[in-house]
Amino acid sequence: MVTEEHHTDQNHSPEHPLESNGLYPDPGKLLDQDSIDLNILKKLVGRSILSVDQFDKELVLEICKFAALLEATEIDRSHPLDGKIVITAFFEASTRTRLSFESAVLRLDGKILSIPSGMVTGVAKGESLSDIGEMFNAYGDLVVLRHTETDAVEEVSRNLRLPLINAGNGSGEHPTQALADWFAILKWKPRLKAAVVPPPFQIHLGILGTPGSMRAVNSFLRMSLLFKAGIRKISIVSEMADPLGPELESLLEDSEIEFQLANDINELLSDLDVIYMNSIAFLGDSYKTLDSRYKLDADSNLKKDAVVLHPLARLDELDPTLDGTHHNLYFTQAHGAVFVRQALLISVLNRFDRLPRKEIPLNA
Ligand code: CP
Repeated sequence: MVTEEHHTDQNHSPEHPLESNGLYPDPGKLLDQDSIDLNILKKLVGRSILSVDQFDKELVLEICKFAALLEATEIDRSHPLDGKIVITAFFEASTRTRLSFESAVLRLDGKILSIPSGMVTGVAKGESLSDIGEMFNAYGDLVVLRHTETDAVEEVSRNLRLPLINAGNGSGEHPTQALADWFAILKWKPRLKAAVVPPPFQIHLGILGTPGSMRAVNSFLRMSLLFKAGIRKISIVSEMADPLGPELESLLEDSEIEFQLANDINELLSDLDVIYMNSIAFLGDSYKTLDSRYKLDADSNLKKDAVVLHPLARLDELDPTLDGTHHNLYFTQAHGAVFVRQALLISVLNRFDRLPRKEIPLNA
């Protein structure tokens, strides 16, 4: 397949301030002279972010462009969240999501009330989530919620009057993760944002996991359908006979993107441009041993320019030998999540007036 850029190991940027391994695409290329349309971002003011279904392509692009601007500039100098308090309520373990939200807030000079575990709340004494939602109203300006139960968002929302950002609810959704995923992909190939993508530049997307029951994969797949102009084919790799379920299958069929189900990633590698790995080894509180059909390492037969994403804590499905290669987009994906979450927080909390308008391309 023809590609617009040829990545080599030189794309592993030793000058990147994080000194980290992998591919670090320039966020400026996603902006590419475009201004940010505040009228589109203002649709988020005061809104809760619960599901990918709330987004259209135009809004996702504007959030990603705003995130690129935040990554490329030093907007944090203008203290846009000064005076705001964000409650990060995590009733399930997290590394990336809680810390990137908290980093996003702190770097914008907001304040954090952090609940790193549900057991430090009244839940330990039997308090209901709807009562906890009522308490949140008095203590902060926005709530970021992670919970093991899919219906937790609904329960907290019963009495909550603050905007709520769903940071992963059971087997439901993880919409801000999907934004971070697509932010990484669009920085890698800005051409995919176009309404028409010529066939040689369209991607074959491989997704490892079960979108029907894994929230990050579910949200990623839903958001991917918004970018169907740039997608030649989607392959879902899973041990399950039906990894999609009826709703997602119907969405895929309606999208008219070619898709296939497979059970061995190795059989597809020579044609995949983006591989979305996943923690399929997690089984509730335990782990299972994966066989080579669901694993990648530096010896895997990846296309020369293929990139790998992984939204979650990895186990042995993604070998660290890939970390130092130009296939590694997963570190960029995790680091970029801070800027995506900053873009969302500034938008939901309507702090556009705090941004340094003279220095940055914002269209009011
Ligand atoms: N992306 C994600 O949900 O990872 P964490 O569980 O580490 O937050």
